[in-house]
Amino acid sequence: MVSDNLVEGTEVPPAVQAVVLVGGKGTRLRPLTLSAPKPMLPTAGVPFLTHLLSRIRQAGVEDVILGTSFQAHVFSEYYGDGSKLGLRLRYVTEEEPLGTGGGIRNVLDELTADTILVFNGDVLGGTDVRDVLATHRSSGADVTMHLVRVGDPRAFGCVPTDENGRVTDFLEKAQDPPTDQINAGTYVFRRSVIEEIPPGRPVSVEREVFPKLLAEGRHIQGHVDHAYWRDMGTPEDFVRGSADLVRGIAPSPALGDRHGESLVHEGAGVGPGAVLIGGTVVGRGAEIGPRARLDGAVVFDGAVIEAGAVVERSIVGFGARVGPRALIRDTVIGDGADIGARCELLRGARVWPGIQIPDHGIRFSTDV
Ligand code: GDD
Ligand code: MG
Repeated sequence: MVSDNLVEGTEVPPAVQAVVLVGGKGTRLRPLTLSAPKPMLPTAGVPFLTHLLSRIRQAGVEDVILGTSFQAHVFSEYYGDGSKLGLRLRYVTEEEPLGTGGGIRNVLDELTADTILVFNGDVLGGTDVRDVLATHRSSGADVTMHLVRVGDPRAFGCVPTDENGRVTDFLEKAQDPPTDQINAGTYVFRRSVIEEIPPGRPVSVEREVFPKLLAEGRHIQGHVDHAYWRDMGTPEDFVRGSADLVRGIAPSPALGDRHGESLVHEGAGVGPGAVLIGGTVVGRGAEIGPRARLDGAVVFDGAVIEAGAVVERSIVGFGARVGPRALIRDTVIGDGADIGARCELLRGARVWPGIQIPDHGIRFSTDV
C-alpha cells in the first residue's frame, strides 16, 4: 500500500519544497526534551519526525529543509542526507531561535520552488498533503493553511473562516476563542510571501506574519478536513499519539501494517503474566517483569519495569527503572531515574533524569 502511494506521489511536480520547523525547546515535554529535541523522541519505534517525513515523501515531495536551532546536531546525525527515507534533506540552523516565522525566513536561500510546504515538526496527522496543495492551487491564495476542529482551541491558533473557507482572522492562544477551528500547523506559502518576512530577528508566524497579511487584505485560504490530527507537545498528547500509532488509529507510512495492542521491540524481554495493552510500546533492550501491567505506556530503550508494577498512560525514559509493585499513572519519568518499590506517582508527576526515589518513598495512600 505504501509503495502504491509512492508511485502515485511522484505525479506531484518537483516544484514543491518542504520546510519542517524543529527548533523549539519542547519545554512542555521536559524532562524528556532535556536530552533530545521533541521531534526526535521515540514514537512507536522511530523518532517522531520520521512519521512526518514519511508522510511528506508519500505526497511525492523529496526536497526537505529542516529549520533547526535547539540540539541541531541530533537531527543531522540521525537523518544525514535523508536518502534512507527517499528524501533530499538539508539543515539550516538558527544560532538563536528566530521563532516560527523567523525560522521560515531563515531557510529562504534554500528555496527555489514557488510553492513551499511548511510544517510544525510536532504534528501527528493523517491528512494527505496533496489535498492541501490542491486547495492552494485552486484558490490561488498567498498562503493556504490546514485547519482542524478541536475540543479546546485555547492552546492553539484559532482561525475563523468565511463561507468560502477564506481565513478572516488569526488569534494565537486566544482565551475566549470565537470558533473551535484551529491552525493545524501545516501551510503552503508562495515563496514571495516568505521573502516579505523580515530577516535576522525573531518573528512569530502566528502573532506577526498571519495577522499582518490579513490586515493587508491578502488571501489566506483554509483547508479543513477530518483526518486524524494531534499536536504531540504535551505528555498527555505524546502518550495518546504514540498509542494511536501502535493501534493503527493514527496512520503512518513509516509503520506499515504492524498494528496491535502493543509493540515490543527487539531485544526486549517480557516476563510471564505481564499484560501489555492500550497501545503500549516497549523499547529495545527494555525488561518488563512478571505480572507487570502496562496500559498505554511508552517505555524507552533499556528501561526496566519490575514485577507487578503498573504503568498507565506514562512515559518511562531511557534506562529508567520502575520498582516492584510501583504504580505510575499520567507521569513522565526522566532518563535513568530509579523509582523504588511500591512508590505511587500520579496525575502529571515528572521525575527528573537520574533521580532516585527510595522504596515506598512517595505514596498517595496510607496502606504500605
Ligand atoms: N526553527 C525553529 N525556530 N522552530 C521553532 C521555533 C524557533 O524559534 N520555535 C518553535 N519552533 C517549532 C517547534 O519545534 C514546533 O515544531 C513548531 O515550531 C511549533 O511550535 P510549538 O511550540 O509546538 O507551538 P504550539 O504547539 O504551541 O502552537 C503552534 O502549533 C499549533 C498546532 O499544533 C502554532 O502554530 C498554533 O497556531 C497551532 O495551532
Ligand atoms: Mg506544538
